Amino acid sequence: MKEDLAAIQAEFATALRSAGSEKDLTDLKARVLGRKGSLTAVLKELGSLPPEDRQTYGKRVNELKVHMEEALDAALRALAERELEARLEAEWVDISLDAGRREVGNLHPTTQIQHEIEDIFTSMGFDILDEPHVETDEYNFEALNIPKDHPARDMQDTFYLEDGNLLRTHTSPIQVRGMKRLGPPLKIIGPGKVFRSERTDASHEFAFHQLEGMMVDRDIKVAHLIYFMKLFLSKVFGREEEVRLRPGYFPFVEPGFELDIRCLLCRGKGCPVCKQVGWLELVPCGMVHPNVLRAGGIDPEAYSGFAFGLGLDRLVMMRYGIEDIRHLHGADLRFLRQFR
Ligand code: DAH
Repeated sequence: MKEDLAAIQAEFATALRSAGSEKDLTDLKARVLGRKGSLTAVLKELGSLPPEDRQTYGKRVNELKVHMEEALDAALRALAERELEARLEAEWVDISLDAGRREVGNLHPTTQIQHEIEDIFTSMGFDILDEPHVETDEYNFEALNIPKDHPARDMQDTFYLEDGNLLRTHTSPIQVRGMKRLGPPLKIIGPGKVFRSERTDASHEFAFHQLEGMMVDRDIKVAHLIYFMKLFLSKVFGREEEVRLRPGYFPFVEPGFELDIRCLLCRGKGCPVCKQVGWLELVPCGMVHPNVLRAGGIDPEAYSGFAFGLGLDRLVMMRYGIEDIRHLHGADLRFLRQFR
């Protein structure tokens, strides 16, 4: 039995030295101290020894067992420490390194103004609709009371697609989609790109941005239109704005108006920006034509409404004094960085 103990101890020491993983260590523990382990076997044999030997050997076997357990624990701890160190070494990052300059982007000024206007109208209970750029003839023209021979339908103004659809020439088809989808009463705005086959110059682009607005309810009158326009404009420009309505013709409204605002620059005295008239033409609008309500599935006897269409690019140009619309789509970073 004495030899047994020495052999077990020697074998344990060798195995411990060569153990390189947690599994090696648990295997070793099982081999020696487990239920069928070599030292466990010795412990079981103690009972068959004469009493005087039992005590001496018992003590030695127990000491050996404690020693082995401690050695295994220590080896496990050392292993864990080595692994941690290896990980720290591998994942080390030099946080003092210069990360270099990061370019910070910004939203396009037209997007910025669009978001501002969306906030203003949603705060007044309007829903925002996002509708397709590709429209049907029906929604872009027909449902908006634009007769077949209207100049807006001319091939020169409209980009037609081969399948008979077209790129919307204004955001007004959103009115029709809104009425059909939501039914009365409704308060909506619909911002987005519109397209016209136009020669570009300082004030014309073939793709530009509009924001449509529409309110339909019982007994909506011109006074409601003026109220919402004044409220909206004073929020955009940050002060009470004076407005006036002039008659204007649009097939989808009756009566139709051009809403002017007191010139932002001269406040009415007359200057080059307002061409000396003291007013700036800002929002075409009007009372929704009965035919349009009908096309949207709404009974014009029971409901009425107003609608307006804002030119977002023009608004940006007025706000920042930009003289050429082509700057807005030029993708010139020197220009765009000014709007951070
Ligand atoms: N859709 C018109 C355009 O693009 C603008 C417009 C005028 C919109 C009057 C309206 C409106 O909603 O009532 O020129």
